[in-house]
Formats: sequence, structure tokens, C-alpha cells
Amino acid sequence: MRQSSAVKAKAEKMASKLLYVHTFGCQMNEYDSLRVQRLLGLEGYAVTENPKEADIIFVNTCSVRAKAEQKAYSLLGRLKGIKVRNPNALLVVGGCVAEQQREKIIERFPHVDLVIGTRAISRLPDMIKEVRRTRTQKWLFPESEESCGMEWLDSSSPMWKTGIVASVTIMQGCDNFCTYCIVPYVRGRERSRAPQEIIAEIRSLIAKGAKEVLLLGQNVNSYGKNLDPPISFSELIKMIASETDVLRIRFTTSHPKDLTEDLMKCFAEVPELCPQLHLPFQAGSDRILKKMNRKYTQTEYLRKIERLRDIRPDISLSADVMVGFPGEREEDFLETLKVVESVQFDNLFSFKYSDRPFTVASRMEPKVDEKTKSRWLSTLQALQAEITLKKNLAEVGSLREVLVEGKSKTGRGQLTGRTPQGRIVNFVGPSSLVGKIVAVRIVEGYAHSLKGKLIEE
Ligand code: SAH
Ligand code: SF4
Ligand code: F3S
Repeated sequence: MRQSSAVKAKAEKMASKLLYVHTFGCQMNEYDSLRVQRLLGLEGYAVTENPKEADIIFVNTCSVRAKAEQKAYSLLGRLKGIKVRNPNALLVVGGCVAEQQREKIIERFPHVDLVIGTRAISRLPDMIKEVRRTRTQKWLFPESEESCGMEWLDSSSPMWKTGIVASVTIMQGCDNFCTYCIVPYVRGRERSRAPQEIIAEIRSLIAKGAKEVLLLGQNVNSYGKNLDPPISFSELIKMIASETDVLRIRFTTSHPKDLTEDLMKCFAEVPELCPQLHLPFQAGSDRILKKMNRKYTQTEYLRKIERLRDIRPDISLSADVMVGFPGEREEDFLETLKVVESVQFDNLFSFKYSDRPFTVASRMEPKVDEKTKSRWLSTLQALQAEITLKKNLAEVGSLREVLVEGKSKTGRGQLTGRTPQGRIVNFVGPSSLVGKIVAVRIVEGYAHSLKGKLIEE
């Protein structure tokens, strides 16, 4: 019995066409890669982990920093060998570098078959047929897309699966034009999805086994303002909580200028909303914040943090920050350190500024030298590593509700899940607990995770 099903699985694998997807960048790119898998799944493509056996290779690129762009080019270079061995395989480039470079990608990498913009994913299956039929290289960059994610509203489709935690893109693009950022140029203007569409997608994810949703957007707090009728992000959260069976809701990313009192209050009023917020501050110095076009001051940022902690004392906070913005001086950097010291973030994502095409900051002078950027970054990261470890150690002894996401990568019969604050907990337990919320006593704290002991199922 076992053997025959293995043979059958192998036969199916041989018969079906295979798709390999490599994703760089943010969670919205991850979501788009899932869309590609599902859209091509409907055309009979199964996913493979091995690019050498793939019929289609889809590289989903990120352009947010110079390093991310370089990574995309180096992968495209390496994939040339695969195309030489298997000329029938199609190499497709999507994502933000595709949108930034457009057909120039084909000039630089003549082994690329198709370059597709961030707003063209729903047209990917047709474009692939077109490339196969005409045997010529193609590119497609529409300025808008009907909607994202419509292809998996039907939860009965066997073509897609979900994990316990599922992401849902609720808005695309960005209108903020922070002066360092390429996103508005490569993702276009801000567009919100209709609430009914989001609810329908969440329901179908839950029907497939998801328990938690992560709502995605470049600036989710400004969700819905261009919809007719307009709806606020806090109203959307309440709708999701009351109209679906979701156990937990998280969201990312928020812009401090648009974090309203109403939204902050949701952390106390909506039981499904987890006490966790990612609120990038980017820089501590008001002078630099102004040059970044962030539209808030250090004091305003710190006041919002204070208010959040009044409303929800156990909220966990994380942020993005960058060092070496043009014109940044030692005294500006000290303001950034001050914010990190005073807020005591649970987690911090820090980056070295790099020039991006189209942006205002790329034309600003003077640039900060690489050595200074590296020194500032390591100072910042050392400080945060201390704070994160201290916070994780402070968890020891507490009892936490953990939503079990699956088997732990650490092996040894351990399960893995997250606390409401988003901390990863590994503990021993039966796999029947996957998808359930269980009580776990925290027994050890490490740099990036916690170890727990199962108390109650
Ligand atoms: N929309 C989100 C995140 C955008 S990109 C937000 O507004 O917070 C993720 C992070 O990359 C940013 O928060 C920023 O810290 C960093 N980033 C963006 N452009 C950058 C650049 N040119 N150089 C270095 N870091 C950058
Ligand atoms: Fe970029 Fe600013 Fe928009 Fe975030 S809010 S995506 S940093 S322009
Ligand atoms: Fe990167 Fe594009 Fe996301 S630039 S961070 S993949 S929106």
C-alpha cells in the first residue's frame, strides 16, 4: 500500500510540470510568490525545490537596498548554467528589480525569457503561454492590476495549501515617498482591497486550516481611505475579528504618522488582535527625520509608544532603523541610540542606508562613508542584542498562550509556536497540538527564541 502510493506520487511528479520559485525581500513578495504558485498550480505546475528539474524558474526580486538588488543579479547569473543544460526551461523575473530595470534585465541577462512587473502577476499564465508559443523574450509592466489574490478565493481548490499562519495582502503600493525609499516607484500608488474581498480570502484560508492571519501592506494604517465608502484600518480589524473564525490577527507595517488613537485602542478592545506592533522609526534625529520626509519628530514617536503602553502594557514593539542617511552626523546617530535605549524594543531591524534609483535622497550630499556606517550599525546592533536577550530572559517563569505552528526545526520531538507577543517558543509535545493554542511555561530564554514546557492542552 505504502509502496504503491509512493510509486503513484512519483509518477504524478514525472507527469506534472514543475515550478521553482526563489523569493527575495519582504512578506509582500512572499505573498506574491504564493500567488504565482497558485496561479501556475491551476495550469498543472507542481512546486519543486530543485531549480535543475524545473520547467519554469520564477525569481521574485527585491530592490529596497543596493545589496538586495545585487543578490538578484548574482542569482540570475548563476541560473545561466541551468538554462544551458535545459533550454526548454523558462526563466521569469518578477518583483521590484524587474519593475525598476524593466527590459534592461533582458539586455544584461539574455538567458531571461520573461520580465514581469509587480502589477502583472495575474497575467503570468498567459504571458508564459505567449513566450512558449512565439519563442521570443517578453516583458510586461502594466500600471495597475485589477486586484491581488482573487485566484484563491475558492478554498475547495486542491492546488493550494496554507500554514497555521497565513498572510493576506490588504493594500498594495505606497504614497508616502520617504526620500530614501524606492517602494513607491516600484509598487505604484497606494491601493486598498475591498473589505469583502479580504474577509472572503481569510474565510477560505481558515477553511484550509489557517488559525492566524498576518495583514500585509507598506502602510496598513492608511488602509481604506480611498475606498468607496471609505473604511478605516481599525474598522477592518474589527470586521475580521467578528466576521471570521480567526484566532489571532497581526499586521505589518505601520507608519507612526498614521497610527491613530482608534487603532491603538484596538489592542485593548479586540481580543483576537495580538499585542505586537512593528513601528519603524528610521532615525532618532529630528533633522534627519525631516530630510527623510517621515512627518513626525522623535518626541511625537516616543509619545505614541508611551500611549501604546498605557493602552496595552504587555505589547511587544519592534522597529526598522537605518544608519548613514546623507548628511547624518555623530550627534544625529546618538539620537538614534537614545531612542533605542529609551524604548527598549523587543526586536530591531537595522540597515545601512544605500542610494536607490529615482529617490530624492540619492541626490543628497554629503554621503556618509562606509566605515562610519559599519561602526554605527555594529554599535546599534550590539545594544539591541543586549536588550533582546534581557527581554527574552525576563520571560522565564511566565505562563504563555502559544499557538502551535508545527514541528520545530531544532528537531528532538519539539513543537514550535508563538506567544501573543510574537516570541518563538520551542517545547516538547505531541504533533496533534499543531493549530491549537496551549499553555506553556517559559523555562529558558535565548537570543532569538524561548524554550518552554507544556502545561495544558
Ligand atoms: N513600508 C515599510 C517598510 C519599507 S522597506 C515602512 O514604511 O516601514 C523596509 C525597511 O527597509 C524600511 O523600514 C527601511 O528601514 C529600510 N530601507 C528602505 N529604503 C532603504 C535604503 N535606501 N537604504 C537602507 N535601508 C532602507
Ligand atoms: Fe517606503 Fe516610506 Fe512607503 Fe515605507 S512608508 S514603503 S519606507 S516610502
Ligand atoms: Fe523589496 Fe519590493 Fe518588498 S523593494 S521590500 S520586495 S516591496
